[in-house]
Amino acid sequence: MALRCAVFASGGGSNFQALIDRKNAGDLDAEFVLFVGNNSSAAAFDKARTASIPTLHIAPSHFESESLYAKKLLESLEEYNVELIVLAGYMRKLPSEVVLRYHHRIVNIHPGLLPAFGGKGMYGSHVHDAVIEYGAKVSGITIHFVDEEYDHGPIIAQITVPVMDSDDSHALAERVLTVEHGNYWKAIQAIACGRIRIEGRRVFGNV
Ligand code: GRF
Repeated sequence: MALRCAVFASGGGSNFQALIDRKNAGDLDAEFVLFVGNNSSAAAFDKARTASIPTLHIAPSHFESESLYAKKLLESLEEYNVELIVLAGYMRKLPSEVVLRYHHRIVNIHPGLLPAFGGKGMYGSHVHDAVIEYGAKVSGITIHFVDEEYDHGPIIAQITVPVMDSDDSHALAERVLTVEHGNYWKAIQAIACGRIRIEGRRVFGNV
């Protein structure tokens, strides 16, 4: 049975599209049963609609409190029988009620190597600028489970890319994004197939 996934995204949704494409190619035993976005003008919404995936616009600002926001998210996830939450460029921290309820059932992709280039405020070009300014010779992607701290949960997979002398953050971002598109689905497929085992911070199993 296909793993029932909800995808959360705030932006363009190129990772989301790459996952949809893999599913349509028959490589991914997942069903995208729900898309949740906090920004109604995000292109990711169009990608969901084109793929006939139900969408929900749930923004924290619509709610009087964090716990009402969490309640709405949890009710929606339950309504669609979501088994795995896939963050794909979701720019909001999930409420801890959601993180605790979906313990080891939320994945994220980060456009840098953790724990070196992550944490609050480290997203998008901030990551690539920091990598270049530091003088690191490699960057890459980190796919990880989500816990209550930013960019902190157990690491499922990391793939490196070289940092070239000529790189600016745009060039590095493109190289990293290509690797994101080529690999996020593999981690989700490994989870869908039950190949992943977690012991403390360590994640075992081939992605
Ligand atoms: C990606 O770089 C991902 O690593 C990060 O957010 C970005 C989303 O990009 N979490 P896109 O919307 O999938 O193009």
